[in-house]
Amino acid sequence: MTIENAGAPSNLFYQSRQRRPLVGEARGIYIWDADGRRYIDGSSGAMVANIGHGNERVLDAMRTQMDKATFAYRLHFENEPAERLARMTASKMPEGLDRVFFVSGGSEAVESAIKLARQHTLAVGQPDRWKIISRYPSYHGSTLGALALTGMELMSRPFEPMMREMPKVPAPTCYLDRDGLSMEERGLRYAEMLREEIERQGAESVLGFIMEPVGGASTGALVAPDSYYRRIAEICREYGILFILDEVMTGAGRTGRFLAAEHWDLKPDIIALSKGFAAGYAPLGAMVAHNRIVEPVLANGGFIHGYTYAGNPLACAAGLAVLEEIERRALCDNAAEMGALLKTELTGLKARYPFIGDVRGKGLLTAFELVSDAQTMTPLPKAMDAHVHLVEEAYSRGLIIYSRRTRGGLEGDHFMVCPPLIVSREQIGEIMAALTDSLDAFADRFGLPRGNG
Ligand SMILES: Cc1ncc(COP(=O)(O)O)c(C=O)c1O
Repeated sequence: MTIENAGAPSNLFYQSRQRRPLVGEARGIYIWDADGRRYIDGSSGAMVANIGHGNERVLDAMRTQMDKATFAYRLHFENEPAERLARMTASKMPEGLDRVFFVSGGSEAVESAIKLARQHTLAVGQPDRWKIISRYPSYHGSTLGALALTGMELMSRPFEPMMREMPKVPAPTCYLDRDGLSMEERGLRYAEMLREEIERQGAESVLGFIMEPVGGASTGALVAPDSYYRRIAEICREYGILFILDEVMTGAGRTGRFLAAEHWDLKPDIIALSKGFAAGYAPLGAMVAHNRIVEPVLANGGFIHGYTYAGNPLACAAGLAVLEEIERRALCDNAAEMGALLKTELTGLKARYPFIGDVRGKGLLTAFELVSDAQTMTPLPKAMDAHVHLVEEAYSRGLIIYSRRTRGGLEGDHFMVCPPLIVSREQIGEIMAALTDSLDAFADRFGLPRGNG
């Protein structure tokens, strides 16, 4: 069933883009539309459905909670799912990060991080610190505070007069650099750009630095050289600025560890979580902060911030059951193992499709980028709109992948292949078969060269 002829849609969200079929059912890594056509959820929606769809344990936990209470306002009642989820979340964080603040999504988690950081600096008597440096490209959310940190010009430009844009440093896109440096040296060079920016802004005015430890949709799963992470953390410490990790997409196991921070033993001050945290079963996110950040704020009158739905018992019951499933089924390990397999398979496609310029990612946060010249990494012509057409080829073959223009959202095309963390070896094979068919059709349509692989 499609709704193409239904006239002007009343749901504003659908007005600006191509209509899609109505969803029917979703189970495991598959979604069926209302006509019974099956799709592989090769991107877990927007890298959300980490434990797959229709998980009975999570649904049972939600039903049980629903029968008790779906809402009790946090100023009037505490609730057990929120208490248990807070404890379980804290147990998965680096030491000291055990203060959890629930929200309903990623943008809210980032907003909360910004506000806590600011209130902390006021509480410790440094009111001149208010700038949070972020990276370009990056994505931190669409509310005005999170948008001010987001490094995607096309998204923020219309709202510039209404917000205070924050300073940006280049994201460490070392794979694009053509110089004599090793990757580790490039990593250090990008990290130094943070130091330079802090100096340029005036260190006394800088409150924090925020980054996605592995890039999300804005960079297509960008992973920096190890040297970058070490140096960035040192620079934040040296200048006494807060180190904030946006783990909205990377958290809850997506990269093969519960937090991407664990790959580099990062000890941030604040972490933002959402997406895989409740894996699509409920709108939920969290900001988790170190005790040393929270205590002065509480002592200074408390955190002046909050949302009506924060700590909602039903959402927290879902989140708790999701975290239990991640543990019970060792999904972080499966993400690491299946992610390595997927990356090898995608890298293997380069021989057959010379227009695949780069394959990157960690765990099951995996992407590939298309180019017209893999040596120079020159993007495909902008007008080709590859990021639209390849996704449509895949969609018509029952495979959902997620694309964006790379390079600041302005040109270039990358594609995220990020199935749920429950994906099996055979299902990776299914994804690759549908993707290969789609790439063949895409190459034929645009007359792109083919190799012998
Ligand atoms: C890294 C990152 N931060 C924040 C957000 C915003 O999350 P939400 O769309 O749930 O508000 C996203 C969403 O894609 C994200 O990927």
